[in-house]
Amino acid sequence: MSKNSDTPTPAAPGIPLAGVIGWPVAHSRSPRLHGHWLRRYGIAGHYIPMPVRPEHLAEALRTLPRLGFVGINVTIPHKEAVLALADHVTDRAALIGAANTLILRPDGKIHADNTDGYGFIANLRQHAPDWRPEIGPAALIGAGGAARAVVASLLDAGVRELRIANRTRLRAEQIRTEFGARITVYDWAQAGNMLEGAATVVNATSMGMDGKPALRLPLDALSPDALVTDLVYTPLDTPFLVAARAQGCRTVDGLGMLLHQAAPGFERWFGTRPQVDDDLRRAVLA
Ligand code: ATR
Repeated sequence: MSKNSDTPTPAAPGIPLAGVIGWPVAHSRSPRLHGHWLRRYGIAGHYIPMPVRPEHLAEALRTLPRLGFVGINVTIPHKEAVLALADHVTDRAALIGAANTLILRPDGKIHADNTDGYGFIANLRQHAPDWRPEIGPAALIGAGGAARAVVASLLDAGVRELRIANRTRLRAEQIRTEFGARITVYDWAQAGNMLEGAATVVNATSMGMDGKPALRLPLDALSPDALVTDLVYTPLDTPFLVAARAQGCRTVDGLGMLLHQAAPGFERWFGTRPQVDDDLRRAVLA
């Protein structure tokens, strides 16, 4: 007799499968990234892109564990919606309000986490090993989904004062309400002033991405001692990073955040902690 279709069925033993769900998903670099690691470590597994329409998300998440999937990365537009469909959500994913990494347990239960903030900090620590988050204020431009992960990770890393400016001020104020007193909200028109004395500066808007206008802020107040980073990685060297270097600042591009956020998921699904190195960067950029 066939089982009720809502009953979780243990995944068939065999080659572990993982993949990324999004709509659209063709732009995702995750298959290339995880594919590189699978080959490099000689792991018999597969990682595939899966275009999933929003109206099919719940059905996809019920079905994938039964097909042998052990893990899923989640990209736009599903990162918020998966929280309501998961059986367990980590505190940081709940605080950020989005998940990017799902662990599909053998009993069909879904565990949702957010590793974007981890990826953000790991990228800075790899490329600026002497960076100290507690040394001075951080200034964040943007207050969208990616910015929320950056906020969580910077506060966790010990930043004492976090300034935020966003075109839509209300979203920055919402972050202050949720994340607390270390956050100061600046007016979008004051974003240049916000940089004064900042030790860490982050662009978490989509400005500067290929095909979009550059982020242009007055940088006169920016100290050459500041570390400046951008979440945009297409292009790698954004106009904002170029301008910050012209001001004498050290810059870190955003690709490493993508690479590092993938590592905890890969380790949980395939049992090997992967290296984030130049080979991986080249493979993802190829
Ligand atoms: P993501 O998940 O990548 O963060 P998002 O939640 O849509 O995507 O956030 C995009 C961010 O870029 C927001 O901070 C957005 O500002 P608003 O909250 O005002 O929309 C910012 N952004 C996008 N286009 C912008 C523009 N032309 N000028 C200023 N900010 C912009």
